[in-house]
Amino acid sequence: MKILGIESSCDETAASIINGNKNSVEVLSNIVSSQIDIHKKYGGVIPEIAAREHVLDVLPVIKKALFNANIDLKNFSKEIDAVAVSSGPGLVSSLMIGIETAKTLSYIFEVPLISVNHIEGHIYANFINQTKIEFPAIVLTVSGGHTMLVLMRDYNNFETLGETKDDAAGEAFDKAAQLMDIGYPGGPVVSEQAEKVTNKEYVSLPRPMINSGDFSFSFSGLKTALLYKLQKDKNYKKHIPEYCYEFQQSIADVLIKKTIKAAEKFSAKNILLAGGVSANKELRLQFSEASKKLPQTIFYKPELSYTTDNAAMIASAGYFKARDKMYIDWKDIKVNPNLAL
Ligand code: KG4
Ligand code: ZN
Repeated sequence: MKILGIESSCDETAASIINGNKNSVEVLSNIVSSQIDIHKKYGGVIPEIAAREHVLDVLPVIKKALFNANIDLKNFSKEIDAVAVSSGPGLVSSLMIGIETAKTLSYIFEVPLISVNHIEGHIYANFINQTKIEFPAIVLTVSGGHTMLVLMRDYNNFETLGETKDDAAGEAFDKAAQLMDIGYPGGPVVSEQAEKVTNKEYVSLPRPMINSGDFSFSFSGLKTALLYKLQKDKNYKKHIPEYCYEFQQSIADVLIKKTIKAAEKFSAKNILLAGGVSANKELRLQFSEASKKLPQTIFYKPELSYTTDNAAMIASAGYFKARDKMYIDWKDIKVNPNLAL
């Protein structure tokens, strides 16, 4: 079953063709046009600019995804079994471009349409080239917009156990980088700087809510704690790696402890990581170590190219929804910027 996935929820315009069969998802093409360089100078995504860029990029990106998968537009109806698109959460004006394009393709070529929750997409990135995932699984979804622990009892069966009360983990990385003026997006630069640490004891930051006894998170206080430390330290510019190391470690400690606890509580067969922050090298490494303490639980993570926003993950989610005939009429699909899981 071939699915065309379309993603435009934030500042990446993406299209991908995947081939799904039984529990396996193979990527035939995966095109991402990133606007990072455009938004960099503002230190964050400007919705109006993002939407205008999506308008310019969406058709060429889809054309390239079809071309790379050896599909001629003339054979669209014959080759593509469904069109899957992110319908939220995200920026309204950005989501709209992907949705209108997906609707048009579905209508003209008479191919079923599938509405995909962007977070579900991140979760289904784990199922690309990976057939061994079993349920129940605990999924830690960590991106620029979300931080949540999810219990997955089966395909298309999600229960949110807890989420952030304020900033998302990725947002915390972005704001920390902004405070230290070291670049955008924050996650990759903080991680890169942290690798250069020489004195791991130089600064200490709190581990917010680590012993709260629930599955909620909070990262805005961590950012404020960092700000106060930086303000007091006249030499902080010379110790960026030390600050980045500690900041990253604080986030990793909290995420890992709560995820392991959830995996124990629900006797999870697998722990999965999802979202842009799951690209973090240390987080991947430390999760892998920590999950060894749970003999019945195997840890999986998406391949790096499927961690940050992409359309292969949307097509993957689309495939598992298509298997269950979870289609939507083109007249009914709606943008939902606050779509819950
Ligand atoms: O999933 P994503 O591409 O977009 C959203 O759905 O939000 O996630 C983007 C977020 C950004 O906040 C970025 O700083 C973070 O993921 N990120 C990372 C890394 N790469 C991207 N955070 C930590 N370490 C990384 N290597
Ligand atoms: Zn995302």
